[in-house]
Amino acid sequence: MATIGNPLATLPEQPAAGLPPGARRPRRLRGSALVRSMVREHHVRREDLVLPLFTCPGLGVRHEIEAMPGVARMSPDVLVEECREAADAGIPAVILFGVPDHKDGAGSPGYDPEGIIPRAAAAIGEAGLDLLVIADVCLCEYTDHGHCGVLTEEGVDNDPTVELLARASVVYADAGVDVVAPSDMMDGRVAAIRGALDRAGHAEVPIMAYAAKYASGFYGPFREAAGSAPRFGDRRGYQMDPPNVREALREISLDLEEGADVVMVKPALAYLDVLRAARDRFDAPLAAYNVSGEYAMIKAAAERGWIDEIRVRDEVLVAIKRAGADLILTYFAKDVARSLG
Ligand code: PBG
Repeated sequence: MATIGNPLATLPEQPAAGLPPGARRPRRLRGSALVRSMVREHHVRREDLVLPLFTCPGLGVRHEIEAMPGVARMSPDVLVEECREAADAGIPAVILFGVPDHKDGAGSPGYDPEGIIPRAAAAIGEAGLDLLVIADVCLCEYTDHGHCGVLTEEGVDNDPTVELLARASVVYADAGVDVVAPSDMMDGRVAAIRGALDRAGHAEVPIMAYAAKYASGFYGPFREAAGSAPRFGDRRGYQMDPPNVREALREISLDLEEGADVVMVKPALAYLDVLRAARDRFDAPLAAYNVSGEYAMIKAAAERGWIDEIRVRDEVLVAIKRAGADLILTYFAKDVARSLG
């Protein structure tokens, strides 16, 4: 019977249309927020998040990074407050990148026991926060030429660089860093770091290896933040070639054989297939780095009103989980942890 105000009432009489009885109706499980939440297959949890932080010498320093809104280089005193907020938001770990005030050809500020990472780690330790401190281990922030190791005419000299990375790892562990994360892509560095840590009495310190790290344009804003853009050339002689996926599996397999505890794929978004392949092949915990360029793109488009930052951010992070990552390193970590309520 037609009712006044029913828009359907104005339509001409329709034949009894519709799906046959017993038809499949997947929309039944999308009808309300409650039912959607019950059948949701993947989640981003606070425990999955690692917040990257940049630290520099000084007192009271907070230098905002233009291409990464909300991200700043901080002196250890300011960094401790940022870490306190991260811990309060329920984030289990931060990863530290050091930006020293001087650099040299051998990256020696990177393995100086009085350097920026040991000082920052000590400051966080003194604050007694419930937070794991991971240190990125690489020389590019500490070399005056901006490459990830010591140079010969041909490029980065692998074996002497590995020695220095092992030395840096021990220095960081001595200063109280909980996990070391080599991001240099030198051959054999995981075994060398494992051996050096064990000999120095740090057998309990895990290694989170940037196992499949690609030579990527998505690192652009990070290099501004860390002041680590190479002065000449690029990193293609040691970071991976973007089209390769089988090579990534070989790299991950080598790092696991050498003693890596957690393996990482980096960047995340353009490499979700690599994450999936790694998840299917290996049992080890798998991390993905949602890198600076991925963050900057979302921030920039959202600032112009072209996309909804929160929706896109959450979509991207759950895509990384869906692809198989256990852990996500992301500059969004604090915002996401807070939004999880
Ligand atoms: C190297 C390092 C880089 C990033 C993490 N560790 C830069 C590079 O290899 O050029 C990039 C992270 C990001 O873009 O967010 N120490």
